[in-house]
Amino acid sequence: MEKCCALILAAGDGKRMKSKHPKVLCQVLFRPMISWVTDACRHAGVQQLCAVLGAGAEEVRSVLPQNCKIALQHERLGTGHAVMCAREFLEEHRGGDVLILCGDAPFISSRLIEQSHHYHCGKGNAVTVISARVADPFGYGRILRAADGSLEAIVEQRDATEEQKNICEINSGAYWFAVDALLESLEKIGCSNSQGEYYLTDAVAAVRLAGKRADAYLAEDADAALGANDRKGLQKLNQVARRRVLDRLMSEGVDIPCEDGILVDERASVGRDTTLLPGTIIRGASVVGEDCVIGPGSLIENSTVGNGCVVDNTEILSSELEDEVKIGPYCRVRPGSRLCRKVKIGNFVEVKNAVLGEGTKSAHLTYIGDADVGANVNFGCGVVVVNYDGWQKHRTTVGDNVFLGCNTNLVAPVKVGDNSYTAAGSTVTKDVPPDSLVIARAPEVVKEGRIKQMREKFGKK
Ligand code: UD1
Ligand code: CA
Repeated sequence: MEKCCALILAAGDGKRMKSKHPKVLCQVLFRPMISWVTDACRHAGVQQLCAVLGAGAEEVRSVLPQNCKIALQHERLGTGHAVMCAREFLEEHRGGDVLILCGDAPFISSRLIEQSHHYHCGKGNAVTVISARVADPFGYGRILRAADGSLEAIVEQRDATEEQKNICEINSGAYWFAVDALLESLEKIGCSNSQGEYYLTDAVAAVRLAGKRADAYLAEDADAALGANDRKGLQKLNQVARRRVLDRLMSEGVDIPCEDGILVDERASVGRDTTLLPGTIIRGASVVGEDCVIGPGSLIENSTVGNGCVVDNTEILSSELEDEVKIGPYCRVRPGSRLCRKVKIGNFVEVKNAVLGEGTKSAHLTYIGDADVGANVNFGCGVVVVNYDGWQKHRTTVGDNVFLGCNTNLVAPVKVGDNSYTAAGSTVTKDVPPDSLVIARAPEVVKEGRIKQMREKFGKK
C-alpha cells in the first residue's frame, strides 16, 4: 500500500451514547471502536494515518497508534467539513490515494481495504465508495448508479425521494479517493441540504462532474457499514463481533457446549478440544492451549494458558500458565505470575507476581505475593507470604520440595532452603537453611485440670 494514507473521521461526540467520553472510545468486545479501525489499516499495510477529532481529542489520542496524526475539527459541520479540517495531511499526500473511514464503524476489515483498493486502482477511479447491500437501508446514504452502472451520486436519507429511499445499496461511509481529486472537489461542495452540513458524499458527485471516474465497490460483508449511535446499537455491534469470534473458534475445533456469557476478544486464540464453559471471558491477545477446560465463571486477560489446563471460577491477569496447570475454584492469579507445569492451586488462593515451580501445590486459603517458589512445594492451608511491610514490597524465595505447614507466615524478605519444613503456625522471619525444620511459634502450655477447677469454682455454665 505504497502512497496510501488513511483519514479516520472521529469528531462525533456521541451524545446519544450518553457517555462522558468521545463516541469512538465506546468499546466493542473490549476494544475502542477506533482501535478496530486503526488495526484494520495497519493490517492492510496503510501506515500513514490521520484522525479528525473533536471534543475529548486528548482522550482519543491515547488509544491511537504513535504515528497517527491528528486534525482538529472544532465545530461539527459535517463529514465534508471534517475532511477539510485535515487539508494539511492531505496536501502531504498529493499524488497518492486516501482511504476515508468512520471511527465508529469497527467492522471494516483489512481484506476489504485491500480488495477495494485493488478495484480502485484497477479501474483507474478517482473515487471508489465502499457500498453494501442491506435489508434495512434507513438512515444510510443511498447509492445512485447511472445506467452504465457507474456511481452517479449519494443521496442522504433526509434528502432522498420516496423512490430513492427504496434503494438498498448504501454508502458504508468508507471511500478511496485520489487525493488530488478529493482536494479539488472539496472546494466545490456547499451546505445547502436538509441538515445544513458539508457532506463528504457531495464530493463524489463533484468528482464525476469534473469528468473523473466515480465508482462503488460492493462489499461482500455488509457488516462493514455497521456503526452505533446509541447503547443499543453498540450492543448490536458487540453481538455481531461475539458471534463471529465464537463461530471462528468452533470452526477451529473449540468446544462450546453452551455459549451463555462467553465473550472472547477477537485477538485471542484458543486451541482445539478446549472447552469453554458459560461465563468465560477471555480478553486481550490471550492464548489458550489445547485440551483445556476454561470456566465456568472465569476471566483470562492478557495471559497465556498451556495445554491441558483447568481454570474453574478463576481470574487470571497478565500471567502465564504452563501445561497441565489446575486452578480453582475461586482463585485469583494477578499480573506477573508464572505457574509451571502441573501446578495446582484451589479454593481461595491468590498469587501475585510470583513464580511457582513444577508440581507445586496450594490447595486452600493462601496468599503468595512477590515470591520465587521452587518445584514440588506444598503450601499448607492458610499460608501467607507477608510481602509488604507498610512501606515496601519484598521478595521471598522458597526452594524445591519445601513443606510449608498450615498457617505459616513467611515474612519477606526471607529464604527457605530446599527440602525444609516449617511447622504449622510458624512466623518465619529469618532465612531457613536447606533440609531443616523451623518452628517459630509460642511454646505450647497445657494446664492440666484447669477447666475442671473452674467449673467447680463457678458452677456449670
Ligand atoms: C454518513 C454518510 C452516509 C453513510 C453513513 C454511514 C455523509 C453526509 N453521510 O452519514 O452516506 O451512509 O455515514 O455510516 O457523510 N464526523 C466528523 N465530523 C462531522 C460529522 C461527522 O468527524 O462534522 C464523523 C463522525 O464522528 C462519524 C463519521 O464522521 O465517525 C460519520 O458521521 P455521521 O454523523 O455518523 O454520518 P451519517 O449521518 O451517519
Ligand atoms: Ca453514522
